[in-house]
Amino acid sequence: MADFNRRQMIQRSFCGLAAGAFGTLTLDAKATPTPETPDVHDYESFLDKKGIPQVAPAGKWEPSFKDILGPFYVPGAPFRGKVTAPLAEGDPLVIRGRIWGFDTRKPVSSAVLDVWQADAHGQYDMNNPKNPPAWKDFKNRIRLVVDETGYYEYETIKPAAYGIGGGQSRPSHIHYMIQAPGYKKLITQLYFKGDPHLKTDSFGDKGGANSNLVIQTEKVKVKGGSYQLGTFDIVLESTTTSF
Ligand SMILES: [Fe+2]
Repeated sequence: MADFNRRQMIQRSFCGLAAGAFGTLTLDAKATPTPETPDVHDYESFLDKKGIPQVAPAGKWEPSFKDILGPFYVPGAPFRGKVTAPLAEGDPLVIRGRIWGFDTRKPVSSAVLDVWQADAHGQYDMNNPKNPPAWKDFKNRIRLVVDETGYYEYETIKPAAYGIGGGQSRPSHIHYMIQAPGYKKLITQLYFKGDPHLKTDSFGDKGGANSNLVIQTEKVKVKGGSYQLGTFDIVLESTTTSF
């Protein structure tokens, strides 16, 4: 059933694209179907004999906190696993995590994520929401589909904090919108532990150091450099659950 929902979600997303900006796309008349491949995913090994996942969210078993949408959301971002353009200025960052159902305590395998953020100078790819960028010009914003185990991962750079007037600054953050059949749409943001602007942020996270929106990253050394790695698990509320 979960697999069916996942397919439905992906179909819906791509049909939406086809009906919009790509309504004129057609498959080459000479194209033939891709041969079926063996099922290679390892979802079964991820579960114990009772069907219970062998890992749990990095944070607490509680629904992820909501946060503001902000003025810079644009629908219809491209599906890709890298938020920033190749060699974009900034500190490389990899964020990974799973989407979980609070009701089932199992991964949600049918989620679609919107992720968007500022660049290394605290700038978005557009300043006026009424004049959004053309699809080909989208920068620092993506959509993702999670895998069979609810897992997602993307590469980006750490966004800079930015001023919002009145002497205030928003802490470094990454915007999320998560949608999955059977679950409430969640709009939220990811923050970084130790950010000095968290204490004075008047819009976003209200949970302070204990918020489930604040993550700790670790430095990973690789040949030729290093990057920061963080885990941001998200727990969704069922549409039939109220708190
Ligand atoms: Fe923002």
